[in-house]
Amino acid sequence: MTAEELLDAARTVAENAYVPYSGFRVGAIIVADDGTTYQGVNWENAAYPSGTCAEASAISAAVTAGRTRLVTVAVACIDAAADEESFPCGQCRQRLHEFGVRDVIVATPDGGAGSYALSELLPHGFRLQADS
Ligand code: THU
Repeated sequence: MTAEELLDAARTVAENAYVPYSGFRVGAIIVADDGTTYQGVNWENAAYPSGTCAEASAISAAVTAGRTRLVTVAVACIDAAADEESFPCGQCRQRLHEFGVRDVIVATPDGGAGSYALSELLPHGFRLQADS
């Protein structure tokens, strides 16, 4: 799938977001290293911190299916101001880093698909390297 197709798929799935508190629908499509794709949406809770981001939902779907080597994510925030790019939050950048995601696709203000390296959005992502 092209970046535009992935972003369109993210926009479509974002329609299923459960956002009674923020009204801000997000959809994410993750591509694993074998080319399979996984989708996720944000879903909220009356106890606000109990909700989950779209990227985290998509990661859950991929890991549940046995895919832990992930390559690309496309994120669509269909209620965001059209003149601004919306990037994954800091916590999701770290979540994506864990599984090797390299490229992050977001909508550009002109309606196109912009591609960013995750390493550009999250330099020096955390890895656990304990003394053994
Ligand atoms: N949200 C995401 O789904 N992904 C992000 O990277 C940032 C924020 C969701 C969480 C919440 O449901 C809504 O957007 C507003 O913060």
